[in-house]
Amino acid sequence: MCLTPEQAEALQLAATDVAKNAYAPYSHFRVGAALLLDDGSTVTGCNVENASYGLTNCAERTAVFSAISEKGPQIRIRAIAVDNLNGAASAPCGACRQVLSEFALEDAIILFPAVHSTGEHGFESRPFFDLLPFSFRPGDLT
Ligand code: THU
Repeated sequence: MCLTPEQAEALQLAATDVAKNAYAPYSHFRVGAALLLDDGSTVTGCNVENASYGLTNCAERTAVFSAISEKGPQIRIRAIAVDNLNGAASAPCGACRQVLSEFALEDAIILFPAVHSTGEHGFESRPFFDLLPFSFRPGDLT
């Protein structure tokens, strides 16, 4: 799918904004994610760390779990935006790519912070499934 520049900007801003809610006392890496769903609504999530470290939940997975909780299991993701408050070029981790893939439409778009060839910080926009080739999908179970 194509995002209008306005939709992309709104989704990026929602991701940046929710990163302010992150609970990240260990890494101090505050991340936000915003999902544009097929019903046109936006659901957000931030990372939530834990003293046992390994139980940390990334922003992207928080957003997916919030979307299911708020809307139900039929949700589908049209676009994803991720941002952090640390100014880092950072794409979603592998675990989050897998969880997002369960609900992402085939032509879903992902936006994440990156450094462009000019050296400028900005958002990289990619087809989501470019980030997860040969993925394990629900259809593989049949
Ligand atoms: N984190 C995310 O929220 N999303 C990612 O895709 C990568 C990492 C969080 C997890 C942890 O709280 C912190 O960033 C440092 O890894």
